[in-house]
Parts: sequence; structure tokens; C-alpha cells
Amino acid sequence: MFIGLDIGTSSVKAILLGADQLLIASATADLTVERPHPGWSEQDPESWWTACETVLDTLKRKAPAELAAVRGIGLSGHMHGATLLDGNGRPLRPCILWNDGRSGKQCADLQATEPQFLTRGGNLVMPGFTAPKLQWVRENEPDIFSKTEMVLLPKDYVRFKLTGDYVGDMSDSAGTLWMDVAKRDWCDDLLAATGLTRKQMPRLVEGSESSGTVRSDLCGRWGFDAPPVVAGGGGDNAAAACGVGAVTPGSAFVSLGTSGVLFVTNDRFSPNVEGAVHAFCHALPDTWHQMGVILSATDSLNWLARILKKTPGDLTAELGRVSGPSGVSFLPYLGGERTPHNDVEIRAGFAGISHETDDRELTHAVLDGVAFALKDCLEALSVAGTKIDRLLAVGGGSRSHTWLEIIASLLGVPVDVPVDGDFGGSLGAARLGQAAATGTTEGIFARPALKATIDPLPALSEPYAEAYGRWRKLYPALKQAGF
Ligand code: XUL
Repeated sequence: MFIGLDIGTSSVKAILLGADQLLIASATADLTVERPHPGWSEQDPESWWTACETVLDTLKRKAPAELAAVRGIGLSGHMHGATLLDGNGRPLRPCILWNDGRSGKQCADLQATEPQFLTRGGNLVMPGFTAPKLQWVRENEPDIFSKTEMVLLPKDYVRFKLTGDYVGDMSDSAGTLWMDVAKRDWCDDLLAATGLTRKQMPRLVEGSESSGTVRSDLCGRWGFDAPPVVAGGGGDNAAAACGVGAVTPGSAFVSLGTSGVLFVTNDRFSPNVEGAVHAFCHALPDTWHQMGVILSATDSLNWLARILKKTPGDLTAELGRVSGPSGVSFLPYLGGERTPHNDVEIRAGFAGISHETDDRELTHAVLDGVAFALKDCLEALSVAGTKIDRLLAVGGGSRSHTWLEIIASLLGVPVDVPVDGDFGGSLGAARLGQAAATGTTEGIFARPALKATIDPLPALSEPYAEAYGRWRKLYPALKQAGF
């Protein structure tokens, strides 16, 4: 038996799998995001652990005998969050999350003073990443900075609570910008640029390697027969890739979660900083990956649902199928954008609203806008020399057939829909737990069973290509007008 534990932005999800990888039980517990200032985004690290306790308690209630036989646990989590600990392992402040935009100035400064961020780090210094967040703390909260003895990513804080050890995995740690991504090791020069050293970093392991075992007091609480091995695990996107078998070079997926991601596996470190493409380690040894990341995918639909006092499911059901692009355009920059603009300041916009515009039309515009932003990511990846032939769809938004039909038609690639598309990182995490506990990656990272393949619809492709051309002109206009 294996557990996958995914620390998502809006909830923690645990799944319990048998050795055949079939689902035995699952549980979720909600999390909240605090936004104490415009553009900030924080979470209390203790809330992750409380949510993990809740989901593991639920698994114990649902399947006590199977839980007792768990041999491996894998962790996955939202990336880049800066969790600062004192010498006793206590959080010094709320975690600054991946979609926090406060560190724009620090990004510009770091990029100007340490060119190796772009070469060895392999990425633009973007406010989402961890290094500029620490630089912000260094400049704005020097007391906290001076007390910081360990910096962990969100899932690695959960690992610390589970095992008592400070360990990170390659895929998530690459997103700190303190790694030499090709070498799969911390980079002293990049750490020094933000006033830190290796001593403040966790030990690194591969995602499929063991990072330790569950503490004995916790084994008693959940009734584990023997202390389960905790795998290195992965950042949520690398873990999701492990869950859908996207581990061989060229395999790709689109994730419609809070953020939107176009992910491709590479056999080598392949940076392209120009188009704000992300280049990180993958969760399995000797593999890397590239991503285009948009900050608000289902977050845009959730925002609209909140405003209209409906659920996102109501909105997509009311919309039904579409026969072409909406006459209304939406730019999904609710919290700025990463790929391709690297712009924390830009904000979202609608254009083309008329007297006739209703809830349906706004929903249509939001689905289109997110699809256009993903097309921007595809273009950025193709400039980076990466060609995508087909995509697998994951994440909550992949439940909308219409959304996937728009994406397939606009991106010009078939989109495979797995029978279960909504596991996020938890399935991949459980598989990494299985690999660490059994000592092999053989046969563990299979592609999932598909329930459908959505081919590009010729009737949609042309009109969507035209609408994309119009939509592309809106970002420079918004920017110029100072939004
Ligand atoms: C990736 C990124 C997001 C988060 C949250 O760079 O910031 O995908 O991992 O899901």
C-alpha cells in the first residue's frame, strides 16, 4: 500500500493505493490563502500539517487495515513557497506563496547583479520563485531573515513534520532558483546572492529516492505496522507528470488547476529564459522538464463564479458546447502573469462587452482567455525548440469537455483525457512513494487509461486562430494604458 499526499493551494489531498495502483480511499481537507496586501499571497505552514493530519485520520477511518500496511508515502506540493524556520524548526512567518507578486524589485536587482541565475539557475528571476522572496525578507524583515536557519518548500515542511528530517527533492528545489539545475545540486553563488548558504538548505534527494521514514509516534497514531518510507516526491507539476506517465522525453501534459501549466519532459536541462519558459529538474533521475506557466487558470473561472454567485460547474454547464470563439475577450491576468510576459503588475481585463453580454458569454470569454494564454505558452516552448504532438489533460478544469475542445482546436494538438484526471500531484506522489519503498522505477510510471481523445475541430481551429491574433493585441494595449 502507498500514500500520495498533495499539498495543493486550495486543499490537501491524500490517496491510498494498492500495489496494483488502484485507489482504495481518498480524503481532502481545505486550505485558505491570505492576501494581506494587494498582490501578496500567504499561507500558514501549520495549516498544511493540520490538513495532513485530517486527511490521514480520514484514511484511517475509511480503510484502517490497508493503512496499516502502507510501505511508502510520496509528497507533492505547490512549488516555490518560502517557508522560513528558526533553529527549532518553527515557522518564523507565514509562507510566501508561488502566486505572490511582492518581489518585483528584488527580481530585477538579482538578475542584474548575478547573471548565473539565467545560466546555472536556467530561469528568469520571477517573483513567483523562492530566491527573490528571501531577498524581499532580507530587505524588509531583517529580523526574521537573521533568525532564518532553514528554508523549506511547502511539501518539505510537511516532510519535516512527518519524518523530522530536512530534505528536498530535485524538481521542487529547482524552482527555488538556488540550484545548479544541470548538476542537480545547490549552487553556492546563487545562494550567496541572497545572503544564504547551503547550511540553510535541506539535503537533496531524487523524487523516487527515500528521504527518511515516518516518526515512530506518528506510526502509532495512524496504525502503520512498520515506519513507511517517505520518498523525495516532487513539485506538483513534476508529480502530476509522474501520475500521467509523462516521464520520457517529449511527453507532455496540460494542467488546468489554480494555475495553468504546459509541461514537457526533456532528456537534458533545456533553459529558454527569453519567453519566461521554466526549466527545472524532473522528479526522476537524469530527466528535466520545461513548463509554460499561467497564474490563473481555474482561478479565473472561480473568480467569475464568485462574482456571479454560482459554482464553476454551474457556469460550464450553462455554457454547454461552443461553435466558435466568444465575441468578448478576457485576459486572465488576475494576479499578473509568468509565461510569456513575466509581468507581476499587469491585471486582467475584459474587452468587447455589450448590452447582450450575459453570464454565459462571460464564462465563454474566460475559457477562451485561459486557452489563449496557454497558446502563448505553446509558442514560448516552440521558440525554446520544443514541439508538442499531443497533450494529456489533468486538473479540475479538465472536467470541462468544452474547455478541452477549445484548447485542442486552438493549440492544434489532440488532447487525451484520462479516466481520472483530477488527481493533481497525489497519484504521482504515491507512485514516487512506491518507487522509493520498492527500490525500482520499473513499471511504476505508466500512462493512465484514457476515457477520450479530443481532436482539434477544423470548424473551431480557424476562427480560434483569428481570435488569438486579436487577443494578442490586448496585452500591449493594457500595458500601455497602465493596467
Ligand atoms: C509552477 C507554479 C505553480 C504552482 C502551483 O511554477 O508556480 O504551478 O506549483 O500549482
